[in-house]
Amino acid sequence: MSDRAPEVAFAGVSLRYPNGVQALDNITFSVPAGTICALMGGSGSGKTTLLKLVNRMERPSAGEVSLDGQAVEGTDPVILRRSIGYVIQEGGLFPHWTAERNVGLVPRLLGCDQRTTDELVGIAMDQARIPRSEFGLRRPEQLSGGQRQRVAIARAIAARPRLLLLDEPFGALDPAIRSEMQDELRALVKRLGCTVILVTHDIAEAFAVADRIALIDRGHLVQIGSPVEIALTPSDAVAAAFTAKQALELRLRYLRLADVAQHLPICDGDGSEELTGERAIADALGALARSGGERFTVLHQGRRLGPFERRAVWDLLQRGAA
Ligand SMILES: Nc1ncnc2c1ncn2[C@@H]1O[C@H](COP(=O)(O)OP(=O)(O)OP(=O)(O)O)[C@@H](O)[C@H]1O
Ligand SMILES: [Mg+2]
Repeated sequence: MSDRAPEVAFAGVSLRYPNGVQALDNITFSVPAGTICALMGGSGSGKTTLLKLVNRMERPSAGEVSLDGQAVEGTDPVILRRSIGYVIQEGGLFPHWTAERNVGLVPRLLGCDQRTTDELVGIAMDQARIPRSEFGLRRPEQLSGGQRQRVAIARAIAARPRLLLLDEPFGALDPAIRSEMQDELRALVKRLGCTVILVTHDIAEAFAVADRIALIDRGHLVQIGSPVEIALTPSDAVAAAFTAKQALELRLRYLRLADVAQHLPICDGDGSEELTGERAIADALGALARSGGERFTVLHQGRRLGPFERRAVWDLLQRGAA
């Protein structure tokens, strides 16, 4: 693969397994280079199958998967797989190998010498917060579930791939480390320049890390959009159901005033209280509550938006959120 992050495109992709299960049906969307796409969907909806199409572990019955416009079908599967960092759903570590040997797998396959491999292993284990000095010589059975997961992440990033496929990589981590790893992943991906497809069952995780979220239901793409679009403009009832339980919390935490301003009705009177568009909704509402302000204007990219009523923000946030 080239040394820059690729765009991944699915064009009319369907997959029917030999036993007749239609795992994917006519999926079309793309993941722009250097962005993180979260895949969400119920158990059995086809998320893992979609990832496997990217590195040719499965082949579509119809349609095409391409990297930077080049069909993966036409590339050597071995070279393809070595160029992609993949964390499989259950971690997939070799049980008889030490953590450091597992992490060094791809650099060795790529022909790196021992010194380079050692260096890459050390860096990757630090980045995944599983330091080699402490954990390098343990076998997977001598690690906790969360530690194994971090070794799997270290292995996926060790050869500095430009494309990462992560199948529920943080499932076994405790909430504090999980949120730390989400921040770390985002920072790492932006720093190294990678394209990432990440499967998660956790909508808050998708909001925290992804540039775009793809919602899959029984093999169909229901909606793809930014967290803001997924939260505020679900395409239908199935899409709305993904965020329903946590809709209010997600909107309060992750949306900014500028995101919702365009959806608010302009009110009469003055909005003497000025708030910047970058503020998170929860924070802005808190400030208004403290000052007793009922109306406000939003300052965003050199423009004044509004005035709006504080009540209208609550009405918008709660719409469809019950
Ligand atoms: N090798 C296979 N042969 C036949 N059917 C399969 C195979 N692998 C997966 N399936 C079926 O295809 C569908 C999609 O499976 P997939 O593993 O992609 O789901 P998933 O969205 O990753 O689910 P989960 O969230 O439980 O991991 C399921 O109905 C599954 O039973
Ligand atoms: Mg799966």
